[in-house]
Amino acid sequence: MAITIKSAREIELMTEAGRILEIVHHEMAKALRPGMSTHDIDRLGEEVIRSYDCIPSFLNYNGYPASICVSVNQEVVHGIPDRHRILQEGDIVSLDAGVIYKGYHSDAARTYGIGEISKEAQQLIDVTRESFFEGIKYAREGNHLFDISSAIGRYAGERGYGVVKDLCGHGIGTALHEAPEIPNYEMNRKGPKLKAGMTLAIEPMINIGSWEVKWLDDDWTVVTRDSSLSAHYENTVLITEDEPKLLTLTQDM
Ligand code: MF3
Ligand code: CO
Repeated sequence: MAITIKSAREIELMTEAGRILEIVHHEMAKALRPGMSTHDIDRLGEEVIRSYDCIPSFLNYNGYPASICVSVNQEVVHGIPDRHRILQEGDIVSLDAGVIYKGYHSDAARTYGIGEISKEAQQLIDVTRESFFEGIKYAREGNHLFDISSAIGRYAGERGYGVVKDLCGHGIGTALHEAPEIPNYEMNRKGPKLKAGMTLAIEPMINIGSWEVKWLDDDWTVVTRDSSLSAHYENTVLITEDEPKLLTLTQDM
């Protein structure tokens, strides 16, 4: 599949999808507290998504049973919300959400600490976010896709973290997952040339320990093999002729 270039009108719709998703994340972040279940987060997230006349894109995607992926501690991504899974002080929780606005998708993820967390956990969260920003320094027309991948992987790898290889970022638009696939590790090839109008969901998943992961028996939840903590950070990004535009991060929230 070719990488789609969005028209000005499509960029407008994706910008709105991104703006709404930013609000959804903001509302979920404000509500996080010890004693809350991962199901409570999903209920709130879906309610906010629908209040903006959007559709939660993850719900029923390949059979995924919820609107928000909620992944706690050693869970990397795709944790399934559960009314019996209660957040505790010291946990870290990754929230991944996607919305569809007038047929156009946005996708973003954040990891938060619940109450006071360890210094190691906070550093993991910080390095994961920083690796994203290191990657998007290269996200501009004329560069190659894997310049982004390599920058992310190098940044986290040099700091001693495990960079997950089994899951990647992706193009996004009228579908949640479009071409190209975006690895988070150093690549020997350059990958496709970036062009203005491409929209990409860039999403490093970083572990304190080894990069290796496995799938739980629910066929969704991805966990670290060594049970070390994992963090996730994702934004939907528009490639332009100069600085990339972060469609899911416009305010400082
Ligand atoms: N943000 C994730 C992704 O880009 C989550 C989608 S998986 C789902 O792949 F099944 F939960 F939708
Ligand atoms: Co994604």
